[in-house]
Amino acid sequence: MRRLLKDAYLVTKSLQRSAAKNGVGFYWDIADSDNLASLVNRLSNPNNRERQVIREVLHRENPHTLLDAGCGVATELVSYRIGEIKVDYVGLDKSSYMLSKARKWHQEAKFVRGEVEALPFSDDSFDAVVLRHILEHLGDYKTAVKEALRVSSKVVIIDFFHRLLPLGLGWKIWDKDGYWNNWYSKTEFVRFLQSLDVPYKVITTKGNSGQTAEVYILEKRK
Ligand SMILES: C[S@@+](CC[C@H](N)C(=O)[O-])C[C@H]1O[C@@H](n2cnc3c(N)ncnc32)[C@H](O)[C@@H]1O
Repeated sequence: MRRLLKDAYLVTKSLQRSAAKNGVGFYWDIADSDNLASLVNRLSNPNNRERQVIREVLHRENPHTLLDAGCGVATELVSYRIGEIKVDYVGLDKSSYMLSKARKWHQEAKFVRGEVEALPFSDDSFDAVVLRHILEHLGDYKTAVKEALRVSSKVVIIDFFHRLLPLGLGWKIWDKDGYWNNWYSKTEFVRFLQSLDVPYKVITTKGNSGQTAEVYILEKRK
């Protein structure tokens, strides 16, 4: 319980710090160009433990193709380059502003505008699908996870900004900027994964604001 309270404190502090520093709230897609650059700089450290965990999974799974669903400005791509992960990368985001920055900074990569709840790809299109820091911001994570599993042929990696609540119910928070900023229940999430009959592993690690993050690795059954 003490650890949980500490996490809640760190997450709240991180949101407040971000809002105060940027003057525009926490969310990348409403930050102006200068603020976005500083936010990206602060949050995209490729040596952050969550990113290392994702790279370790990718090294093991060795995918040839990868969809970064809710890619933002594609900081994951920077991490893959540093980790020498050679993968055919496609980034998808619903924000054309984020995509314009991603395209400017990564001219060689492919980006698609779309929603994670309705991925514009056929079944098994990618070996791996990554959902990093995105499910918290959706009204309903179930559709997005099912979509990720549909278009993946091997593995889906879900990185939650903060670990799931060890309680029967989560918190759905609609914040003042007009975004979901949810903190989900682990019990509910695990029950959902079991209902899909998906084998999974979870890795608890340190997030980039000092909070405890959780990375779920879902193996797609053939
Ligand atoms: C907190 S950022 C995370 C970006 C990136 N995954 C990362 O870890 O750096 C969340 C991103 O999700 C995007 N997003 C929010 N809802 C979405 C949706 N329904 N479909 C696709 N992208 C969405 C936002 O535009 C934003 O770029």
